[in-house]
Amino acid sequence: MIITSKTNRPELMDIKKYLTEKRELVENELLTLLQTDGLLTDHFAAMRYSLMAGGKRIRPILCLAAAEALDCDPAPPAVSIACAIECIHTYSLIHDDLPAMDNDDLRRGKPTNHKVFGEASAILAGDGLLTFAFELMSRHDFTALLTPDESLRIIHILAHAAGPYGMVGGQSIDLASEGKEIPFETLQYLHSCKTGALITASIQTGAVIGHASDSQFEALTGYGEKLGLAFQIVDDILNVVGTEEELGKAAGSDAERNKATYPLFFGVDKSREMVKETVDAALKSLSEFDNKAEPLRELAYYILSRRS
Ligand code: IPE
Ligand code: IPE
Ligand code: MG
Ligand code: MG
Repeated sequence: MIITSKTNRPELMDIKKYLTEKRELVENELLTLLQTDGLLTDHFAAMRYSLMAGGKRIRPILCLAAAEALDCDPAPPAVSIACAIECIHTYSLIHDDLPAMDNDDLRRGKPTNHKVFGEASAILAGDGLLTFAFELMSRHDFTALLTPDESLRIIHILAHAAGPYGMVGGQSIDLASEGKEIPFETLQYLHSCKTGALITASIQTGAVIGHASDSQFEALTGYGEKLGLAFQIVDDILNVVGTEEELGKAAGSDAERNKATYPLFFGVDKSREMVKETVDAALKSLSEFDNKAEPLRELAYYILSRRS
């Protein structure tokens, strides 16, 4: 059954309002972080430049929505962990844009970090944000709401997803695949690592914050894996059909660099069909959840139809 058509669904929530509220919650918290003590002003300016440049904040919102699906309020540990995820994501974008990687000049509608601060400072801004995320997650004032085991599990999930078995591994395959013919299985693996891993981990950390049972954790993981894949296929499609103004980053660049993408393999129309099927599968993973999972369902529709 194809369930990606929204026509028969009752409107249970206002997703635009939800996204705005959660984005504000995350951004207000991000603003309080990374305050310089007067020294290292340039380093802090470089980190804050990219962190506060905008962005959809999808990963932290997914973390909060997964916790909410399990009836857990977006209380302080959840918001801090959501911010840590955004720090990891922002670091990955700064490094992804470097001349040695995708060599991009525009990100989040602004000049890329290395264009403003220089390459060495951009590398360090990325390093700083990545490391700071782990400082944030390991703060010991979370004990009221998370057990030490749960805190450790969250740190492990994010370390695994961000590292060689996840995002960094995926980025390495992405670069190695430029201009080469790769099998479809490698493309799937590349997407699941470079983008899927952090998106899945965002949902898994929300699941741990919400004290998920094993079966709930498994179902949310299934949702995250499908959503992460759909998210990157949409990114590939938008790189072909979107404009620089809409995206706030370069359009048409994947083809220029001979990147391995779904549109290259299947064309835009078939890729769109594959996104729908993947989002369908993501939604099916939530079948055992009640209305508290409605934000997660709406986020899947949002990812399907996003234009930036
Ligand atoms: C862009 O991620 C990089 C990918 C993994 C596709 P987003 O599309 O979430 O970028 P921001 O955070 O909104 O800028
Ligand atoms: C970005 O992938 C993935 C990470 C940053 C980990 P892309 O290189 O395809 O994303 P954009 O199009 O630059 O945002
Ligand atoms: Mg890239
Ligand atoms: Mg890129």
